[in-house]
Amino acid sequence: MNAKEILDEVAAQVTQCEKCQLRFSRKNAVPGEGPANSEIMFIGEGPGFYENEQGRPFVGQAGKFLDELLEMAGLKREQVFICNVVKCRPPGNRDPEPQELQACNGYLDRQIEAINPHVIVTLGRFSMAKFLPQARISSIHGNAMLVNGRMIVPMFHPAAALHQPSLKPQVIEDFKKLPEYLAQMKKDQKEIPVFEQKEETSSDHNDEPPAEQLSLF
Ligand code: URA
Ligand code: SF4
Repeated sequence: MNAKEILDEVAAQVTQCEKCQLRFSRKNAVPGEGPANSEIMFIGEGPGFYENEQGRPFVGQAGKFLDELLEMAGLKREQVFICNVVKCRPPGNRDPEPQELQACNGYLDRQIEAINPHVIVTLGRFSMAKFLPQARISSIHGNAMLVNGRMIVPMFHPAAALHQPSLKPQVIEDFKKLPEYLAQMKKDQKEIPVFEQKEETSSDHNDEPPAEQLSLF
């Protein structure tokens, strides 16, 4: 299957999913959307009221602000993949519960694997915690980290900046760093030499390096 086919399959499965209790309160599941070859992926928390109505991510107030932030970063919404850690709306917009995050995690993993983006932007603490469980958003927001070879950029959730306007300039400043991070990852990739793959034996997989986590900038 190619990336687009995998994303379509995940979306179809999410729409029918019965893996956690959020299935009872959803109107429409929100798998996420964007091109299969997106260079940047944005991961939020979970659908809110309007997302649940429409089955699309970030279409409410936070979504409008996200659109503005993308524009300030020189990005178009149509160019990026946008989704959430849980695909169905938590009732009353409560925080997702650990078992819900756990149940839904496989869909997100398949989306990340299919898209294989240069940069993953986490919006808010729940998506940050997937990659950086010990991190504090207040100290690392806007900083690029390499986690298992992927660039993760933790950002404040756009809704947080709407509730707390003093955060707004900081969020804008953080988003403006994205083109530079993207360029960095593209440049690094070009510099990685491509070797002819020899047939691997299964023992070749036993000495994988441990998870790496380092600050790049
Ligand atoms: N907030 C989120 O985290 N995700 C959405 O899709 C909308 C609002
Ligand atoms: Fe399934 Fe995720 Fe929706 Fe739970 S939140 S029902 S795991 S798609």
